[in-house]
Amino acid sequence: MAIFAVVGAGLSGITLARELQRAGHRCQIFEKSRGRGGRLATRRREGWQADHGAQYFTVRDAAFETEVQHWLEQGWVSHWQPKLGVIERGEAVESPDDQARYVGSPTMNAMVHGMSEGIDLYTKTRIDRLERVENQWRLWDDSGEQYGLFDAILLTAPLAQSLALLPSGSRLEVPLRRTTMLPTWAVAMAFEQPTGIEFDGVFTKEGVISWAARDSSKPGREPEPEVWVMHFTAQWTANHLDAREDLMQQQCLTMLRKLAPKDLPPMVDSFKHRWLYARTGPAHAEIQQWDAENNLGLAGDWTIGDRLEDAWLSAMRLSKAVQQAWS
Ligand code: NAI
Repeated sequence: MAIFAVVGAGLSGITLARELQRAGHRCQIFEKSRGRGGRLATRRREGWQADHGAQYFTVRDAAFETEVQHWLEQGWVSHWQPKLGVIERGEAVESPDDQARYVGSPTMNAMVHGMSEGIDLYTKTRIDRLERVENQWRLWDDSGEQYGLFDAILLTAPLAQSLALLPSGSRLEVPLRRTTMLPTWAVAMAFEQPTGIEFDGVFTKEGVISWAARDSSKPGREPEPEVWVMHFTAQWTANHLDAREDLMQQQCLTMLRKLAPKDLPPMVDSFKHRWLYARTGPAHAEIQQWDAENNLGLAGDWTIGDRLEDAWLSAMRLSKAVQQAWS
């Protein structure tokens, strides 16, 4: 049996720890935030809630499909069947497809909570240094506390944060320097009455907003008040990292007015959230996940792509490499 430190309690970190514990090893997870789930995020407000991070997920891989079946059986996720539209050349039109889409229920991180049972998790613990001690590792947090010793360190934070922790000289480092992550502003709004908008989800192929969803149409959510979540494009976000909330609200309301059959009802509450590391940039290099010389690993959606399935697959791959190293 070995003992591993996992940095980050998103879907990758929790999946990795669960797999390694199933294989008979011990794991401790360190997470800088108060909660777990990373970009699987739902914020509760007074009388309403909204998923401001990942909006839904799809399934393409057969092994992931089996996992999602288990999540469905546990009641951690549900099918979401939105009526979809697309805005093209200024027109909103219906855009149906037969893609199955899932959401965590009643919050996006429900499956991460479900999978964390029996896992040793330190929240509000920001790891800022790794120290090699003979052939093991010690971790230090930003208040000078130390943890360890561990047989391996598995980094699952977003790329920039994992890169900052990676000791120079690790062979994992170079491809990371060629990969980027792009930001996304999210704005959530609750309305006093129903908006009457025909669609539950709208892709936009132009303008500064790339996606709008009636969050309150997802299973496990209260249908009232009606809640909308908008994501701004990576390019607009990158150019407006300090955008004012009222300016973004105006842009969201202008878009929703285009979709609504009548005047919009009053907006009763709103919040914004800036994801600095929302998705993987286009020039994304092949990323190696395991450095056997230093016993260091990397996992996260960004090692493969930017979908939730990628986060899970990445954790499963790293778990196999680590298990092989200790077999
Ligand atoms: P998916 O298959 O539903 O969507 C992939 C992309 O195809 C969409 O972004 C959209 O542009 C287009 N599309 C899909 N269905 C469409 C329809 N009925 N009409 C018009 N266009 C349609 O989901 P997938 O591939 O699993 O990705 C999940 C979603 O999360 C994607 O939309 C992805 O781009 C988005 N994403 C957003 C991030 C952000 O920061 N805003 C970060 C990572 C992923």
